[in-house]
Order: sequence, then structure tokens, then C-alpha cells
Amino acid sequence: MKLTKPKLPKRVRNHVNPLADLIEHSFDGFSNNNPIIIDIGSYRGEFVEQLLEKFSSSKNYIAAEIRKPYARFLEELFTEHDNVMVFDGDTAKNFKTILKPSQDKGVLIEYVFINFPDPWFKERHKKRRVINRNFLQETKKWISTETVFVFQTDQEELFRETQELLVEERIIYEEFSEPLWGAQTHWETMKIGEGDNIYRMKFFM
Ligand SMILES: C[S@@+](CC[C@H](N)C(=O)[O-])C[C@H]1O[C@@H](n2cnc3c(N)ncnc32)[C@H](O)[C@@H]1O
Repeated sequence: MKLTKPKLPKRVRNHVNPLADLIEHSFDGFSNNNPIIIDIGSYRGEFVEQLLEKFSSSKNYIAAEIRKPYARFLEELFTEHDNVMVFDGDTAKNFKTILKPSQDKGVLIEYVFINFPDPWFKERHKKRRVINRNFLQETKKWISTETVFVFQTDQEELFRETQELLVEERIIYEEFSEPLWGAQTHWETMKIGEGDNIYRMKFFM
């Protein structure tokens, strides 16, 4: 990891840029066959930094972030790590093209983290949620049943609605209470500090 952190952008718009949806990525995979962990909505990369400390180079990591200034920040932050790839754009839309080639080569997509995603409460915005019906239906067609999806949020309404969607799509989930490996995300630390509850589940397709 770099000793001095790159400077954060001075101001980043709070809402995701819909134009970023158009960014398309594909990825042939890492130069080794280690399992892959993907963090969707990496923000400033604190979560991936903790995983790097925990697992070092025994895993490969994908840090995905829709907001370009943060994606640039992440590229700089992880520049010295061959086992970290950064992608900008809407990860839900690029999910298959950045992960399936690795799975086809026999690499395990071990974990998919969706940590504290933007809730998009308005009915007409719900399709912007990372976990939406289309994402589940498309992903189910090709992802390994061994891949563990981890969803964590402080938004109970989003959590319950996501569970309903999973049931409708016949996807099994289980709730759990403590963060895996004790790794707290930036948002989680902030929300716990504000006294909020955290809701967590794992699901498998
Ligand atoms: C509420 S923040 C949580 C950040 C971090 N995961 C954490 O827990 O501290 C949500 C992050 O997800 C990013 N994001 C939202 N939609 C996304 C998408 N479709 N693809 C990738 N990143 C997304 C946002 O730009 C933002 O950085």
C-alpha cells in the first residue's frame, strides 16, 4: 500500500452520474488463479485495504466505484498492488463482463460485497439499485453457486425489500450479525457511531 494516500477529490456530487451507466468494461482476469473478492461501491477503498491486510496476496480484489473521482482515487491508492483491479461505471451493468471470463477459467468468485449501497427509495429509481430483479435474473444464469454475496446496510426498508425480491427470485439468504473478519466499512463505522442498526445477509444463487 502507498505510504501517503492520494488526495481526495475536493467535491464529489452526492448522486451518481447516470452517464456513468454507459461505461462498459470487460476483463480477462488476473495473472494468477487466486479467488476473487469484489467490493461494489468501494468509495475510498477502506474495506479493500482491510482485506489486503487480512489476506494479503492470497486473493485478488476488484474495487468497483461508479463515481469517477473516487475510482481515480482508488486507482492511485492501489497502484502498487497487482492483485487489485479498479473499475468505474455501474458495476451491476458490467458485472458479467468483468467476472465471467475468470470463472470460465476455473477461478472462484469467492465473495461479492454490496456494502451500504445507495438505497434509491423512490419507486421510479428502484431499478438503479445494485441488487434489482434484472441483476439477479441475469447473474443467476452464470454465477457459481459457491459465490457468496454479502449485503450490508443501515436501511431497514431497503434490506426487507431486498429480501422480498430474493424470495420472489427463489434465492436463499441467511442473516448474520457481525461483520465478516471484523472488517467494518467506512459507512458502517459512521452509522454505528450515529447509533444505527446494521442489517446483514449472505445469499447464494
Ligand atoms: C453509501 S456509499 C458506501 C461506501 C462503502 N461501500 C462503505 O460501506 O463505506 C455507496 C457507494 O457506492 C457507490 N455506488 C453506487 N451505485 C454504484 C454502482 N452501481 N456501481 C458501483 N458503485 C456504486 C457510490 O458512489 C458510493 O461510493
